[in-house]
Amino acid sequence: MSRRRICILGGTGFVGRHLTAHLAAEGHEICILTRHPERHRQLQLLPSVKLVRTDVFNAVLLQRAFRGQDAIINLVGILNESRRSGLDFMRLHVDLPQRIVNACRESGVRRLLHMSALAASADAPSRYLRSKAAGEALVMGPEAADLHVTAFRPSVIFGRGDGLTSRFVHLLRAVPLVFPLACPDARLQPVYVADVASAMALALDDHRTFGQSYNLCGPDVYSLHQIVEYLAGVAGVRRRIVPLGDRLSRLQATILERAPGTPFSSDNYRTLQIDSVCENGFPAVFGIVPAHLADMVPSYLSVAGRPDAARFRSQTVT
Ligand SMILES: NC(=O)c1ccc[n+]([C@@H]2O[C@H](COP(=O)([O-])OP(=O)(O)OC[C@H]3O[C@@H](n4cnc5c(N)ncnc54)[C@H](OP(=O)(O)O)[C@@H]3O)[C@@H](O)[C@H]2O)c1
Repeated sequence: MSRRRICILGGTGFVGRHLTAHLAAEGHEICILTRHPERHRQLQLLPSVKLVRTDVFNAVLLQRAFRGQDAIINLVGILNESRRSGLDFMRLHVDLPQRIVNACRESGVRRLLHMSALAASADAPSRYLRSKAAGEALVMGPEAADLHVTAFRPSVIFGRGDGLTSRFVHLLRAVPLVFPLACPDARLQPVYVADVASAMALALDDHRTFGQSYNLCGPDVYSLHQIVEYLAGVAGVRRRIVPLGDRLSRLQATILERAPGTPFSSDNYRTLQIDSVCENGFPAVFGIVPAHLADMVPSYLSVAGRPDAARFRSQTVT
């Protein structure tokens, strides 16, 4: 693929850091729009990566940043709203994509990759999933008919610095003896961040992906309980993991959404009420064989043991 100029919104986040490294290694010129360039100096160490302090809600600044770019990638997303911090699902997941589409048009950029989420739908139980669906509908709809848009709908993504494996290992270590687990039966099909990054990079120049939305999942379906048990084993943390029933899961959500950093919320609880699994395998157009969770986790978490990866793979739920 020829060298491209790519502007990423949300490029400093978990997925963004992996995707930026991938694209930089392919020789592309990356411009990341961020609120806090000073917090992400390590990204500037990558060849041809530039961080630009930008208020992405400012139309003039957005147009200026987009001018001369070959493609825009939107990874901006939040898992929880916060009135105090002005974080609002509709603003981040719907209003911002609309502004991005407008700025693409004004600045003459035709290619847009947009990050949505698996199970996003207008009648999903959580505000997170409904707002992701509205944003995806906007970028895939008539509003953006003059652009070449590809949307990605991943299940939960795992990898170094994620909100799944790294976070649960951290929580397991922090909570002594007994670990109460909300929504233990939630069904997930975790997908490796490098596979997500590869799919996005491959899509950039592939005309077959224009106008398409892709569900992205790994090869295995697990319950959240299975994943947390596995992580405790990998991390060598001895905890009694207590699966909570529905009422206690909801109670835990209402308590923890008031805790600093919002480790769990009622909206997260509602998101976990529906399966985050794919009906089909990884989209064939990318030619990627997605990685197994158990094959990758020991490579990036500081682990005490290496539970039998093949055994864990064979424990997938249906
Ligand atoms: N991680 C997953 O398991 C998963 C699964 C499905 C879908 N997704 C979607 O994938 C995308 C990336 O996820 P991630 O896990 O990488 O998220 P992340 O680590 O939380 O990063 C989110 C990014 O969004 C930007 N952002 C957050 N609030 C903002 C605000 N108020 N104004 C402007 N920018 C803001 C941040 O940029 P700055 O702080 O630099 O400004 C940050 O780089 C999101 O759209 C998410 O919904 C993620």
